[in-house]
Amino acid sequence: MPDRAAVIAALDAVIDPRSGQGLMAAGLVQGLVVADDRAGFALEVPAGDTALYAPVRDAAEAALKAIPGMARVSVVLTAEAVATPPRRRTAGLSPQAVDQGRAKAPVPTDRPAHVRRVLAVASGKGGVGKSTVSVNLACALAARGLRVGLLDADVYGPSAPTMLGISGKPAYEDGAMVPHEAWGLKAMSVGLLMKADDAMIWRGPMASQAITQMLTQTRWGTEDEPLDVLVVDLPPGTGDVQLTLIQKTPLDGAVIVSTPQEVALADARRAKTLFDRVNVPTLGLIENMSGDVFGRGGAEAEAARLGVDFLGDLPLDAALREGADAGVPVVAGDPDGDIAGRFSGLAEALSKKLDLQGFQTQL
Ligand SMILES: Nc1ncnc2c1ncn2[C@@H]1O[C@H](COP(=O)(O)OP(=O)(O)OP(=O)(O)O)[C@@H](O)[C@H]1O
Ligand SMILES: [Mg+2]
Repeated sequence: MPDRAAVIAALDAVIDPRSGQGLMAAGLVQGLVVADDRAGFALEVPAGDTALYAPVRDAAEAALKAIPGMARVSVVLTAEAVATPPRRRTAGLSPQAVDQGRAKAPVPTDRPAHVRRVLAVASGKGGVGKSTVSVNLACALAARGLRVGLLDADVYGPSAPTMLGISGKPAYEDGAMVPHEAWGLKAMSVGLLMKADDAMIWRGPMASQAITQMLTQTRWGTEDEPLDVLVVDLPPGTGDVQLTLIQKTPLDGAVIVSTPQEVALADARRAKTLFDRVNVPTLGLIENMSGDVFGRGGAEAEAARLGVDFLGDLPLDAALREGADAGVPVVAGDPDGDIAGRFSGLAEALSKKLDLQGFQTQL
């Protein structure tokens, strides 16, 4: 099995064109993970230098692949944002430590260009329908005449490629990634950048590097046609990965998806606490899979306890799952149906909360 020393030596044999040093010595290698027969890292280069470093990334990838026993290599090229305040490394810190850090300095975030609002969709618990809600909510916002993007940041289980029926690495143009277009949305997914087996590597610091890159180096909009709202499907849970992500992502608000059961609601509470900690407003709670099996109304009562708005419920409905599996979001496939109507209500409430009504000009 390749060891870390071999990986470091290989990377230091690749020369940084700016400093003339090896990549490790030049400090360009971030979040290096070496695990069994895989390695991955983010090559973090100065703002505006991504074109210069694209061949360097390729050379680093080739150098690692040449190590005997190395089966998979993942190198993500990321550029520092222009004039970013000094970075704070927060992964692994306790929430208290993060809070203390926060009091001293504002958390640096990299705001994507030409994006008016960034909305996170979160859940404390996995499998509650966060991705289903993200995708259909994005479609419902688009149906209101907004320019909408979807960023699938779920490093544990990216689902936008399946749910939207998109595949293939995004094209690079003038140093920016070109998002896929599907169902009236601009879409990017960690699933388009990583191979299924790389998930383990991606959960480390590399995940947040890659997501920052997808956020800030994707051509979501232009000066003439800015994106009105970017919906971000976050990984489920309330651990360090999520904390780092929401600290690095300039979120204007979050919605939390929960099923009606108490276990899911307890996790929804934790998600709310996480957003409070980083001063991101929780815009509301959505109950999914509401109905006979799991009961109904738990999320509404929980929202009242938490002092957040209850935005609405979505029934357990086979069409939602079938649409997701087929790559046709129900809101797009059956725009006049009951489910689309419910998402339309959610989209209306959220566009008010995000102050987006003025931008509904395309219809
Ligand atoms: N209201 C619903 N009715 C029926 N099926 C649903 C509903 N919501 C979600 N599903 C199905 O439940 C499964 C989990 O949903 P989804 O992938 O959206 O959840 P998630 O919270 O994003 O999960 P993960 O934690 O794995 O990312 C999927 O098969 C989806 O199609
Ligand atoms: Mg999901």
